[in-house]
Amino acid sequence: MSDDLGQAQHDHWQNVYERSPHMYGSEPSAAARHAAEQFSAGGARTVLELGAGHGRDALWLAEQGFAVQATDFSATAVRQLESAAVERGIDDRVHTHVHDVRRPLAFADASIDGVFAHMLLCMALSTAQIHAVVTEIGRVLRPGGPLVYTVRHSGDAHYGTGISHGDDIYEHGGFAVHFFGRTLVDDLARGWHLEEVHSFTEGELPRRLWRVTMVRR
Ligand SMILES: C[S@@+](CC[C@H](N)C(=O)[O-])C[C@H]1O[C@@H](n2cnc3c(N)ncnc32)[C@H](O)[C@@H]1O
Repeated sequence: MSDDLGQAQHDHWQNVYERSPHMYGSEPSAAARHAAEQFSAGGARTVLELGAGHGRDALWLAEQGFAVQATDFSATAVRQLESAAVERGIDDRVHTHVHDVRRPLAFADASIDGVFAHMLLCMALSTAQIHAVVTEIGRVLRPGGPLVYTVRHSGDAHYGTGISHGDDIYEHGGFAVHFFGRTLVDDLARGWHLEEVHSFTEGELPRRLWRVTMVRR
């Protein structure tokens, strides 16, 4: 995958959020509800969301009482998240960061109790970059802390169609997606405790996703 694609995707997401503010709505995703259960069961207080967009899930997680660190590489989405946090009176519990996951995370080792990433690892990232992100998540997560992530997979109707960028990345309507196969899920779980791989659908098409729950050893 070329650096040009990464930059083009950054610009694309900026435009998308400028054209369609709050495009995912204000209700939390089903994946976030599951993540909150996992986090609560493990006594989590500090939660990190990667690829939080305009914050439908980060804001809801903060309303459940978690101290949330919300990151996304779109400054436009992060601004939308910040104003919604002020409107909802929870800006003291949500901290935002404009951050590209292709760079290391700006958190100390073992400083986070739970990590959530809904449709982030399946963005325009090479397999090597996805491994690097999960290694970084493992660094900042405390032992016993859960990572809940979701990804579109090779059973999705868009897999293998549209513009191919190699490495199982296909682009439709300007959105580049890295479609996961089960081998990649298992490879990423090496050294973790893989608790669950759950199939579900979301949105129109519908998108076909896996929700993966794994715990840092
Ligand atoms: C499919 S959207 C999901 C947004 C949010 N998780 C939700 O479900 O409402 C993917 C998000 O990942 C962000 N993103 C894509 N590539 C990224 C990268 N390399 N670093 C950080 N964020 C990225 C996009 O800006 C977008 O907000």
